[in-house]
Amino acid sequence: MAVPLCHVDDIPEGSARGFTLQGTRLFAARNHSKIFIYLNRCPHLGIALDWEPDSFLDPEGLYIRCANHGAFFEIDTGNCIQGPCVGDALWSVDYRIMNGMLMIDEAELPESPRPA
Ligand code: FES
Repeated sequence: MAVPLCHVDDIPEGSARGFTLQGTRLFAARNHSKIFIYLNRCPHLGIALDWEPDSFLDPEGLYIRCANHGAFFEIDTGNCIQGPCVGDALWSVDYRIMNGMLMIDEAELPESPRPA
């Protein structure tokens, strides 16, 4: 069943926001007007990327940043470009937009991290 995450306007350009859905932590980030959703789980240690709520991006809002080790990930691909998990990527979550709401199918949530 598809459930609403938030309204697209709740994720302004250059920002990100975290959510918990069925016990799964994820976050949405906007880059160049497009929204990308990933599991809030670093591919190399499997821990959350943020120390403070909704703090997923670097100060310029250009990259996703792991607060634990400073790794950088591209917002539009989830690929790690700097840090201990270079060559790996965040686990992306599919969504669709209905009446301005980001909708996620709970059955489509990834259950385990991508193998390194
Ligand atoms: S936990 Fe993976 S880069 Fe920090």
